[in-house]
Amino acid sequence: MKYDALFARTGGFLHGGDYNPEQWLDRPDILEEDIRMMKKAHVNVATLGVFSWSVYEPVEGEYHFEWLKEIADRLYENGIYFILATPSGARPAWMDERYPEVMRTTVKRVKNLHGQRHNHCITSPKYRALVREMDERLAKEFGSHPGLLAWHISNELGGECACPLCEKKFQAYLEQKFDGDIEALNKAWWTTFWSHRYNRFDQIEIPASHGEKSIMGLNLEWRRFTSENTIDFMNQEIEVLRALTPDVPITTNFMHSYPLLDYNRMAKPLDFVSWDSYPCYNNNYESLAKTSFDNALDHITMRSFKKDKPFLVMESVPDLVNWHDYNHAKRPGVHFITAMQSIACGSDSVMYFQWRKSRGSFEQYHGAVVDHLGRDDTRTFKAVTELGAALEKIKEAAGSVCKSSTAILYDWDSRWALDDAAAFSKKTKNYVKTVGSFLNICLKNGVEADVISSVEPLDDYQVVVAPMLYLLQPHTAERLKQFVERGGQLIATYITGYVDENTLCYLGGFPGDGLKDLFGIYVEEIDTLYPKQANGVRFTDGTVWKAADYCEVIRLNGAQVLASYTDDFYAEEPAVTMKQTGRGTAYYIAARCEEAANAAVLRRAWDAAGIARKALPAGVEYHRRYKEHTAYDFYLNYNSAPVQIQMEAAYSLLDDKEVSGEITIPALGVMVCRVQL
Ligand code: GLA
Ligand code: ZN
Repeated sequence: MKYDALFARTGGFLHGGDYNPEQWLDRPDILEEDIRMMKKAHVNVATLGVFSWSVYEPVEGEYHFEWLKEIADRLYENGIYFILATPSGARPAWMDERYPEVMRTTVKRVKNLHGQRHNHCITSPKYRALVREMDERLAKEFGSHPGLLAWHISNELGGECACPLCEKKFQAYLEQKFDGDIEALNKAWWTTFWSHRYNRFDQIEIPASHGEKSIMGLNLEWRRFTSENTIDFMNQEIEVLRALTPDVPITTNFMHSYPLLDYNRMAKPLDFVSWDSYPCYNNNYESLAKTSFDNALDHITMRSFKKDKPFLVMESVPDLVNWHDYNHAKRPGVHFITAMQSIACGSDSVMYFQWRKSRGSFEQYHGAVVDHLGRDDTRTFKAVTELGAALEKIKEAAGSVCKSSTAILYDWDSRWALDDAAAFSKKTKNYVKTVGSFLNICLKNGVEADVISSVEPLDDYQVVVAPMLYLLQPHTAERLKQFVERGGQLIATYITGYVDENTLCYLGGFPGDGLKDLFGIYVEEIDTLYPKQANGVRFTDGTVWKAADYCEVIRLNGAQVLASYTDDFYAEEPAVTMKQTGRGTAYYIAARCEEAANAAVLRRAWDAAGIARKALPAGVEYHRRYKEHTAYDFYLNYNSAPVQIQMEAAYSLLDDKEVSGEITIPALGVMVCRVQL
């Protein structure tokens, strides 16, 4: 409800981004020019205050919000709303000097010095108190400002702290988790191995490479704890803002497949999800379509945290960044299509870091809407203006959402445990990439898919893919079984169901917890291949596809064989299987096969579920967003040549005309069509 209210006020998509006027307070001419240029670029939102603590409170207890009030008023008078960040992402020097406890300690137990950002102790009661005080003041000063759209908690929360305060809290977390029973912990973590048994919870140290790093259960709990503790820190900020400004929605900006935080859990207390998108477009190792399809994984993961509402792209860049290995200028047309991709995937915004390039410091060369040149006729400024105008043309699509028939499971717990497992190959586990490879198949077939965690309900889906679901949460296996019994099509792959929630291996055959009966197979061995080695999988129709990296040797336990290995000591043994249970089917792909083989299994599952695919030319992405009885179709052509697509009768919002039949989409072209349902 809060989210709808936000959008009712702007009447369309948000376009704008991080605005840091505090860097320019001695240049009123520039601040004035900003407003003129923002209006010209169709900007309707500015994110303020992201790192403003040292300007809000230059010395302890002395507060200055008047400058921001002036800015906020001026923006609002000019039709520009603002999202206000809390400044907890970076600290002023006086704070670290006076309260050293607020500074972070690395897992090597080195206490950081003052500086950088995102480096506070997550636990520190002092820092939490200072943040609370600041947030209360901000809420009182700006909470009722008519231009305020939303709160933005901190900035890209992340990292870990291993100070004594955090270690104590970790021990308390473990004590609670294991009900005060150290023997239960010893069992769950298999600590008798190497004689690593603990006598008391307060003996347990935060894992580190110069200390205990060999207990997989401990490493996993540290990841879980850091995630929980960061959420707890964020929740404290949320609590203050909710109490004082109950009607203002709250978000924080996530980072692309960030390894250290379980975003699925972290999204729960937020009113809406937002994230920062910075792919390496037009690099020298893959096509624009490939980079973009891979970026769809991030957009869609973000969208799937709250499927009933749009998400925001809180940051992106209209030009280059300054932190890639090679900071390549964005090629003409790329900003338009990639920004539209985020909208196609369900975002209600295109926002940038940052509005105006800083003159000095770490990000002085990071792309921005306004360059050091200061002109409004640069290639980048024009691209932003063009995009802003296009967002206005399609504004009726704001607030609409995508609907998916297919879900791909993506679990942080499983990712953490798999990455940490001393097994398989150090270099080719590639969990996230594997999840993305299945999404790629969905995109190429024009089938909308969500990316959800294994604890989310599966009722809305007809097809579920569980790639490399190494760790099984309690009840996951049972829920997958119920999904199949009531008619679901389930696809799992090699390295599924090896360990339980504590990383203890299942006995009696993988996949564990009853899944070997659901899939009708069990794994006897896993063969990890060297990079240049390969095997083949031959389907019953005679097609042969390559398998690399991982080949499980599986035994049948009631399943039917769809494909067998072509080579090695397990030639002719089953490689892809299916088994019917109830009204559904469970497929098992025992090897890391090339895309075509996985696609063949997915197509079989979609056909069985009656899910229509869409014939799309290569390099074209398609999404549909829904709003009541209207749908909005997005076609994105990443190719450097035009493509033809077949369309039903629709209204093209960007061209302002009816379209139907065979339509040409130019190179890097985008179509946004209204379809009456
Ligand atoms: C992140 C941060 C921004 C900025 C950009 C640069 O997303 O949130 O403050 O540093 O990266 O790409
Ligand atoms: Zn700490």
